Formats: sequence, structure tokens, C-alpha cells
Amino acid sequence: MNSNYKFYVNGEWRESQTKEVIEIRSPYKDAIVGKVQAISQSEADEAIQAAKVAQKDWEQTSIRERGDYLYRWIKELATMKEEIATTIMQEVGKGFNDAVKEVERTIDLIRFTIEEAIHLYGESMLGENFPGGSRSKIAISHRVPLGVVLAISPFNYPVNLSAAKIAPALISGNTVVFKPATQGAISGIKMIEALDKAGLPKGVLNVVTGHGSAIGNYLIEHPGIDMISFTGGSETGKRIAKLANMIPLVMELGGKDPAIVVKDANLDLAVKQIVSGAFSYSGQRCTAIKRVFVEESIADELVSKLTKELETVTIGSPEDNKTIVPLIDKKSADFVQGLIDDALEKKAVLITGNKREGNLIYPTLLDHVTADMRLAWEEPFGPVLPIIRVKTVDEAIDMSNQSEYGLQASIFSQDIDQAFTIAGKIQAGSVQINGRTERGPDHFPFIGTKGSGMGTQGVKRSIESMTREKVTVININ
Ligand code: G3H
Repeated sequence: MNSNYKFYVNGEWRESQTKEVIEIRSPYKDAIVGKVQAISQSEADEAIQAAKVAQKDWEQTSIRERGDYLYRWIKELATMKEEIATTIMQEVGKGFNDAVKEVERTIDLIRFTIEEAIHLYGESMLGENFPGGSRSKIAISHRVPLGVVLAISPFNYPVNLSAAKIAPALISGNTVVFKPATQGAISGIKMIEALDKAGLPKGVLNVVTGHGSAIGNYLIEHPGIDMISFTGGSETGKRIAKLANMIPLVMELGGKDPAIVVKDANLDLAVKQIVSGAFSYSGQRCTAIKRVFVEESIADELVSKLTKELETVTIGSPEDNKTIVPLIDKKSADFVQGLIDDALEKKAVLITGNKREGNLIYPTLLDHVTADMRLAWEEPFGPVLPIIRVKTVDEAIDMSNQSEYGLQASIFSQDIDQAFTIAGKIQAGSVQINGRTERGPDHFPFIGTKGSGMGTQGVKRSIESMTREKVTVININ
């Protein structure tokens, strides 16, 4: 590999006039995967202008025509599946099979988005329903695009979470400026090569790459941007919310998803779901289970079953499809190690793990984690799971809700009434009963509350978030 990848503006692949490139290093071997352009603000401006100009015609094409472009994109993605999956693996260190699944999930997501948009209808209303109103007034409401959408995606799903923004934006008549995470940019570029091959009109989708310090704020504050869809860290999300103009924002940020294990839980089911929820892709998912609250009376049994299950978790290279793989970079691994060290200094009990080889952190289970430890509150984005023992379910609910985050939560109980009662008290966008926290299936509403984000995603909701209602009133005289 190690190619020089260009950015994409107005249907053209270009090298930056800055002559500066950013090296993308593999997270799991000492190699450069490729280089992307570090573009300037004036090049970012060109991308926004190209999107602005293209939007007028794009909006005028029929939804079926826009759907046809996206269907062709799917076809190209299917042809490039292995190539894109290999790039995901090399660039962000995701196991190859999971990378293939990411591309397949993306294809399904785009197809569902086209079909959903085609079947979305507006509504009409008669004036007479309101007191004093008349049947001679009829309102027709339908959805129209917002304009230019700035799509900013994270490293951990460089293809799927990018398409989850791009597809609803395009099908509903918006044009897009796409800023992939730098680590993940090559996967994003490859995905857009497929869209380019599908013959998308120039300017409808533009890809910008570069240093956040150079173009990040510039893009966010730019008056040509009409909506921002962002997935990434909470600190960046808060900055975007402060800097953006008065435009709609949809943001999916961090999480500290709890699993609450109640004494009547099916522990074998809970253990399987918790381990898969906490440790897949080394815990680098915003929806990973990031703390376990367990009632004292079953805590020893749960910990012993979790320990056994963790022995089955594979560790090593993404090229060998291991579950625990090196984290995205050294800074992230250092951060996770810092959380483990802090917990151990404060007398958490190490059950397994706390072993490190470079960026590879072995799956780590810590018992007797308490509220004074950083690990009880901070998001590791790595393979470490704290067990917090509680006397009552109410204590678990209180501590769950004290978190700055509110993405998802899992409740494990065989008493469905109790599970529903707990779900009602948990501050989170979604609560999973007897299952791990996760975004999919991708048409479900996906919501972050508190520090976990704003707005709702999921196929239909994403389309709605990138459109607004437009009302035309007929007055029959
Ligand atoms: O990392 C954030 C993603 O939205 C999580 O998606 O639950 O499908 O892994 P996932």
C-alpha cells in the first residue's frame, strides 16, 4: 500500500497545494498504511462552494434518480468489498472478518435508506379542524433538504458510520462535505472511490482531509454549512456545539454504558452478552458495555463466570481475526493503562489482565471498583471492564445516572416487570433488556442523551434530521 491518497472536490481527485501529507500508521504493525492530503482552508472552502453549487441541481433530481446513484454505489461497494475491508483492517486494526461485516452492513444500510426515503410521505391538513378554521384552507407538508451537510466520522467504523451520514443526506437532496477521521480516512476515501465510479454528479459529495487544527473549526464555523452530523468524542462534540452557526446538529458522542445485573438474572446469558459487549474490537465502540453493576449476593458467581468466559476471548492481530487487538494508537493505550493503574492504586481487585505489549492491552477485569476511581466514570475506549458491587438495584440506578453520559444501558433480569421498571428510571437513549448495548439493527432509533450526544439517528430518523418540513397552504377562494 503506502500510496498517496488524494482529496475529492467537485468530482476531481486532487493533491493539496500545501504539498503536505499526513502519514497514516498502522495501529498493529510498524508500517505506514498510506498518506492523505493536509488541505488548506481555501481548499476546504472550495469543497463547500462546490457542494453549494451542486445542491441546487441535485435537489431537483427525482428521489428515484438519486436512489439509482446510490444503488450503483452499493454495487461498486460490493465489488470493492475485500479491498475496502483490507484497508479498514490495516488502517484501524479491525479484525478482517469484522471489517468485511462492516462493508456488508453498510451496503444493507444504504439500501434500506433508499427504500425508506422512497416510502416517506408528507401530509395534508384541513383548516377546519382548528376552532374557527375553514375547509377552504389546506396545508400540504413535505420534507425538503437542508442544503450542505458536513459529515464528520470516527475511526472505529470508518465506512459504516460515514455512510450512515452520507446516504440519508444524499437521498434526501442534500450535498455533502465529508471529513473522515484522519485515522480511517483511507477507508473513507476508498468508499468514495466507489461512489465516484457510480457516476455521482460533480460536487454532490466532496472529501476533505487534513489537520483538525487547520481545517476543523473552519469547516464547523463556515456559513456554507447547513447541518452537521458528527460522531466522535464528547469534548469535540461540545466544541462543535459552541462553534457552529445556528444550524441543526446531530451528534453521537461518548458513553459509559452500564450493564445492571439483578439477582434473578440468567447469569450465563448475561456473561456472554457482557463479554461480547465490552470486549469486541477491544472495547473501541461508543456503545461498549463500560461498567457492570451487580447485586452483592450474586457478584462472586458473576465474576467467576466472567473470568471463565474471558479465557475464550482471542488476543492478537486483526489479520488473524482476533477479538482483542492493539488499540488505535499509543495515546489511547496509555490512557487505558492510566485508568487501570488508578483503580489498582485505589485498591480495586485485579481478576485478569493488566498486561500490555505496545498498544495491545490484554482484556482486563477489575472487581470491587468504587466511586472514587476514575474507571467508575471515565470512558476507556479499550478492553477494561470494572465490576461495581451494589447492595440494591436502586444504588445501581443512582450510580448509572450520575454519569455525565447517557447513551445506552443493559439490564439483565428474568423478571420482565422489574426490567421495565429499571429501564424507565435509567437516563439513556436506549435500554437493552437481556442483551448487550449496541446501535443496530440500523433502522432502530439511536439516541445519545446528556454528554452522549444530541438528536436521533437510525435510518428514518437520520433522513428526518437532514430535512425539514416545508408547508404550502392552498386558500380556496
Ligand atoms: O462507536 C459507535 C457506534 O455507533 C457503535 O455501533 O453498536 O454497532 O458497535 P455498534
